[in-house]
Amino acid sequence: MIRTLTDNDIPSALALCRNAGWNQLQTDWSRLLAYEPDGCFVADIDGQIVGTVTTTRYGTDLAWIGMMLVDDRFRRRGIATALMNASLSYLRDCDVACIKLDATPLGQPVYERLGFQPDGSFHRWSRDGDILPQWNPERPANRLSPLNLQLDRSAFSTDRRGWLNRLAADSHVVSRNNCFGMARRGFLANYLGPVIADNKQEAKQIVAELLSQRSGQTFWDIPPGNSEAVRLAESFGFQPVRDLTRMRIGATSVSPTMQFQFALSDPGTG
Ligand SMILES: CC(C)(COP(=O)(O)OP(=O)(O)OC[C@H]1O[C@@H](n2cnc3c(N)ncnc32)[C@H](O)[C@@H]1OP(=O)(O)O)[C@@H](O)C(=O)NCCC(=O)NCCS
Repeated sequence: MIRTLTDNDIPSALALCRNAGWNQLQTDWSRLLAYEPDGCFVADIDGQIVGTVTTTRYGTDLAWIGMMLVDDRFRRRGIATALMNASLSYLRDCDVACIKLDATPLGQPVYERLGFQPDGSFHRWSRDGDILPQWNPERPANRLSPLNLQLDRSAFSTDRRGWLNRLAADSHVVSRNNCFGMARRGFLANYLGPVIADNKQEAKQIVAELLSQRSGQTFWDIPPGNSEAVRLAESFGFQPVRDLTRMRIGATSVSPTMQFQFALSDPGTG
């Protein structure tokens, strides 16, 4: 049975993350659910949560699908496809024009069968170190400035201020006039992102400041089409560790400025 995800399901959803070796924490699930309470779904077999998916809408121009996970004992039975169909109908009922996602090699064929088309490949980058046992955002109430949000709009091509403000509340935020960046804790590694800047020098300073805040392993997902970000990651000692493919379905009224996007906010949300 496919049904909406509730707060009570989060421990089971988190267990699927741990089994799959994903980096998200309970706070990541809670944020996704609070932002889109009617658009997150689980596959429930006799009370057991065996699959999850989330949607994140940025107005009606664009939405992201993420957190697609199926318990490995229940794969190849059409569960991911059923979860995708629930997400797609929800987003279409909400009149969302364009839907994107960032696919792993395992997920890509499932999405292709549903009509998603590849829109560029990219990598997760990682830099080794000891993960900090505990890290709390130094400025938990920090918010982005109106100029940051304006820049994000030209970078991402749609208004995602509601989402970014929630993310900022759980992140370390560095904010300047023409750039901003965030970093937050993860289960396996610190997560660097999003980083939005209109030039590479500012991006470099933001990344250097975020990395200087903590030691430990760090993940950095660089979206397709930003070769400066790739060079920056290499210069900071990061290496590519995971292949991802951006995919989309639906009319694309959004035209993002990829050279302003130096780091994703998460593969599940773009
Ligand atoms: C990717 C993932 C979500 C797919 O879940 P799933 O429930 O196995 O997906 P589906 O069953 O809908 O489809 C998978 C395959 O099973 C096939 N299938 C579906 N129903 C079937 C059935 N009843 N009998 C046999 N095969 C079936 C599908 O045709 C598909 O075939 P393919 O190998 O050609 O792609 C799962 O592998 C997973 O959680 N992977 C780890 C996390 C991950 O990478 N998630 C994707 C993030 S983008």
